[in-house]
Amino acid sequence: MTAPHAPPPEGLEGVVAARTVLSEVDGQAGRLVIRGRSLDDLAGSTRFEDLISLLFEGFFEDLPADLTAALGEARAEVFAQAAYLDAGLAALEPVEAVRALMARLPDGDDLATALRLIAAPAVFTPAVVRVQAGQSPIAPDPALPHAADILRMLTGATPTAAQVAGLDAYLVTVSDHGLNASTFAARVVASTRAGLTSAILAGISALKGPLHGGAPGPVIEMLDGIGAPENARAWIEAALARGERLMGFGHRIYRVRDPRADALKGPVRAMAQGTGARPGRVAFAEAVEAAALDILKTHKPDRPLDTNVEFYTALLLEALDFPPQAFTCVFAMGRVAGWLAHAREQLAGGRLVRPQSVYVGPEPRKAA
Ligand code: COA
Repeated sequence: MTAPHAPPPEGLEGVVAARTVLSEVDGQAGRLVIRGRSLDDLAGSTRFEDLISLLFEGFFEDLPADLTAALGEARAEVFAQAAYLDAGLAALEPVEAVRALMARLPDGDDLATALRLIAAPAVFTPAVVRVQAGQSPIAPDPALPHAADILRMLTGATPTAAQVAGLDAYLVTVSDHGLNASTFAARVVASTRAGLTSAILAGISALKGPLHGGAPGPVIEMLDGIGAPENARAWIEAALARGERLMGFGHRIYRVRDPRADALKGPVRAMAQGTGARPGRVAFAEAVEAAALDILKTHKPDRPLDTNVEFYTALLLEALDFPPQAFTCVFAMGRVAGWLAHAREQLAGGRLVRPQSVYVGPEPRKAA
């Protein structure tokens, strides 16, 4: 434990700041456990609604047995806010526009507030994407499962089973991940008893940074910049020589491969086979990944840098027709479940988060 006046480690690395029953990130073994279930068991076989039930169990008293209908009603309810998506909001980055619409929702601590907050990024993201493309928003269909309705609101078409399974796998995979920056931010705000909406707005604000949830868009820029497998090594070496970081690689906790990367790779392949869209895209990305890993080994021999979740996130969301600038919003659609469960867990503990800082400024000067 850090002594009260010892300088904290940079980025609070290694500092334990919460106890949680929600998830465990084992950075040495490359393992993610969500409420006693390994990600390997969950992703690909669990609908997002069931994962929400798993996370929320014990944190909301009146949890319905099947969340599909309740979430459908919440999507229909929050869609009314899409009317406030004017030219000013549409000119913002998608995550900023979605955050602004979410800020219109009332604060509260109950399940109805939580369901509205899960529904909000799911409904507002397709609406923002469509308005920015000069199209009208599509209203939710409350009868549909959550993932299927998100894709329908995005494209206007009925998604394939592989596409719905791909989005479910993604939302489940990113739903919770220990005390990451956005979850910590959400817990700090929840501890002030400001309400769940305030906590979730803090979470989405932290998520939008390129070192956290803003990375997958730049992964597409990197793939597009490389263009063909034979350019990969030269492009990567030049980027590192300029002092840039490779997006989709490295992690604060994982010292081995991020297990979420592999949880997404299967659905990405299944979708590519199902639709035949962008043939060779997965093989190209794998070639870039292999080159990057090889070069990173010599670039930073003392720091294991492996593939993180954002690399295959980028391919998956691209295959689902989300534009790269909206990828962070789709991350928020999944992570909001974890933020809410953490906020309720923090509230149950009841203690305000209020750490100390070490003053390293000048001594007070005497007035002349
Ligand atoms: N590409 C190139 N170099 C990297 C790198 C990357 N993706 N990630 C880390 N490094 C380098 C750093 O530049 C640093 O080098 P230095 O000691 O010469 O300054 C060294 O490795 C240690 O990095 P550090 O900043 O201590 O790691 P961190 O724990 O703060 O980093 C990330 C974690 C995720 C912020 C970092 O790996 C990163 O920026 N990755 C790219 C963005 C990304 O994919 N984010 C999504 C995370 S899920």
